[in-house]
Amino acid sequence: MADLTSNRPTRTLADGNEIPLLALGVWQVPDGPECENAVRWALEAGYRHIDTAQAYGNEASVGRALRDSGVAPEDVFLTTKFNPGLRDPEAEVQRSLERLGVEAVDLYIVHWPQGGPTWAWDGMQRAHERGYARSIGVSNFNVSEIDAVRKVADVAPVVNQVQFSPFEFRRELWEACESRGIALEAYSPLGTGRHLRDRRVADVAERLGRTPAQVLIRWALQRNLIVLPKSTHRDRIEQNAQVFDFELSPGDMETLDGLDGTGGTDRALERSWW
Ligand SMILES: NC(=O)c1ccc[n+]([C@@H]2O[C@H](COP(=O)([O-])OP(=O)(O)OC[C@H]3O[C@@H](n4cnc5c(N)ncnc54)[C@H](OP(=O)(O)O)[C@@H]3O)[C@@H](O)[C@H]2O)c1
Repeated sequence: MADLTSNRPTRTLADGNEIPLLALGVWQVPDGPECENAVRWALEAGYRHIDTAQAYGNEASVGRALRDSGVAPEDVFLTTKFNPGLRDPEAEVQRSLERLGVEAVDLYIVHWPQGGPTWAWDGMQRAHERGYARSIGVSNFNVSEIDAVRKVADVAPVVNQVQFSPFEFRRELWEACESRGIALEAYSPLGTGRHLRDRRVADVAERLGRTPAQVLIRWALQRNLIVLPKSTHRDRIEQNAQVFDFELSPGDMETLDGLDGTGGTDRALERSWW
């Protein structure tokens, strides 16, 4: 279990690499000043983990912000994702590295299992073997899809990044991942903003003198999940990082757990987009 009293808690992945639990996600953040500012503000606020993807089209801005930040590159955990609409994970990671301006990413993930769960894994392993990615993983994979990858893998995936929050509390998927040595990364932890308006979350937040976003992020942290909130506003980016100085009680955790609308599913998504 990560030490949540530390300002920058990490957990150790099954391959031995350390990953900070809190990341800034940059999906839907346009390439250019908006993305550069968000990443810069996050680094200033103490984030040491940025989650981008080839499909987001903003790797160049993430790279520029990292270089301009003055933070040592080796101190920032950088994730990008293979776009499975393309053919070759090894060739594409090299393009990502050029755009990002780094020698290697910390984590390279198959963004979704388009075309089946296993075809890209050889290329992912090559990216790992050649040192372009220190860790490799998957995203939007169901338990059966993870098992299919593990069956063909020499290097097993160490994370599964999925939609996860109290409202999408995919308990069976989470437990299956943990039992296979796969850390779960919670994407859309604020429901892309939707969950922030929920009265039951607001009630917990008001009682604790916190914001709904902080409560949802803290719920994920207390489950030892890696959590990837996105914002392009400086005050919100800072607020979302102020989550290590309070605790949700077992009763609050239970209330939030009860918001699940997935039935504790082992599925990564109710409907796929590919
Ligand atoms: N692997 C995948 O397939 C996948 C899919 C979806 C997401 N992700 C990852 O997960 C990250 C987060 O998910 P997400 O982008 O869906 O959204 P999210 O983090 O669940 O929510 C972001 C929304 O909440 C708002 N917000 C953030 N902090 C706030 C605060 N403190 N107070 C009020 N509003 C706040 C943001 O607005 P402003 O930006 O205007 O502040 C934005 O509209 C993505 O950026 C990406 O890295 C991965």
